[in-house]
Amino acid sequence: KANEKESMYLVSEFARDYFKNTLLKTDEGKAIGLSYFKERGFTLETIEKFQLGFSPDSWDVFSKEALGKGYQLEFLEKTGLTIKREDGSLFDRFKGRVMFPIHSMSGRVLGFGGRILTNDKKAAKYLNSPESDIYHKSKVLYGIYHAKQAIAKLDNCYLVEGYTDVIQFNQSGIENVVASSGTALTPDQIRLVSRLTNNMTVLFDGDAAGMRAAVRGIDLILEAGMNVKVVTFPDGDDPDSFAKKTSNDELKIYLQEQAIDFIQFKANLIMNEAKNDPIKKAEAIRDMVNSIAKISDRIKREIYIQECSRIMDISEEVLFNTLAQISKKEV
Ligand code: CTP
Ligand code: MN
Ligand code: MN
Ligand code: MN
Ligand code: MN
Repeated sequence: KANEKESMYLVSEFARDYFKNTLLKTDEGKAIGLSYFKERGFTLETIEKFQLGFSPDSWDVFSKEALGKGYQLEFLEKTGLTIKREDGSLFDRFKGRVMFPIHSMSGRVLGFGGRILTNDKKAAKYLNSPESDIYHKSKVLYGIYHAKQAIAKLDNCYLVEGYTDVIQFNQSGIENVVASSGTALTPDQIRLVSRLTNNMTVLFDGDAAGMRAAVRGIDLILEAGMNVKVVTFPDGDDPDSFAKKTSNDELKIYLQEQAIDFIQFKANLIMNEAKNDPIKKAEAIRDMVNSIAKISDRIKREIYIQECSRIMDISEEVLFNTLAQISKKEV
């Protein structure tokens, strides 16, 4: 089994090198892939740092090349790089896409995300490696390899949604950033970060889906005993598009000034939805207290109850009673 996994790493790393080479050294890669990344504002240095690549737009050139180099079909299939059709013919999963290798904490290649270059709404924008013995989507954070030192040093981790958010932030001089890659955050992913810092700042896209993802992520981070702040972006922006049009200094200042504590973020969001409807407001308050109940530190909990009381204009006593009820139910 250990040998099998090593074979899967090796074929993934061959693929990484092949895609990188195709991007930087072939006419097709330069004309299509490289110009795409340039348009997104990525420098050559950034492209090399993240080992970005391009998968040729033909059915099986990559698979043929790998087989020719002695890599076995078994591992090409197990990593999902090659797909075997029913008639036995092979095709390249990532054909015609720009490639983002996904690294482990120690820098090994676990899998890939591949983005289409057109805005064809019928095709999936990103295609990712399938689950395998080396790639468990729910246990990986994109960017962790490049972020780990900065996270520990700065004692904070920015959490974003996407590959390009991580990359654009790095290029803007912010390295303590990882992405959940569009999936709901998991306890395993949080554990990766909590080994390095106790502080997380959640930076989700400025749209309804991003807000919902932020709210879901917050409770899990609290349960892990970490401190959570939130930064939101103008509607229509994500961390990548915002960083691209902002100077590095402005971005740093924005992140500092806009970071609000989770309680304020959540209170604003749900009170906005509840408006003056008393039933909805009651629900919103229970929702808030539910989040606070996830915090195991008693002193922190008390501080948050006070804060919540102030923001939502409700007595601390009522909040403490609600908290007691929730805690009882959970025991
Ligand atoms: N994602 C995915 N499959 C999709 C769409 C999204 O796996 N069909 C994941 C990717 O990891 C993506 C992340 O979810 O980076 C966030 O999605 P989204 O905000 O839609 O994409 P962006 O990262 O903003 O990508 P881009 O800027 O290239 O459009
Ligand atoms: Mn999004
Ligand atoms: Mn986005
Ligand atoms: Mn984007
Ligand atoms: Mn910038």
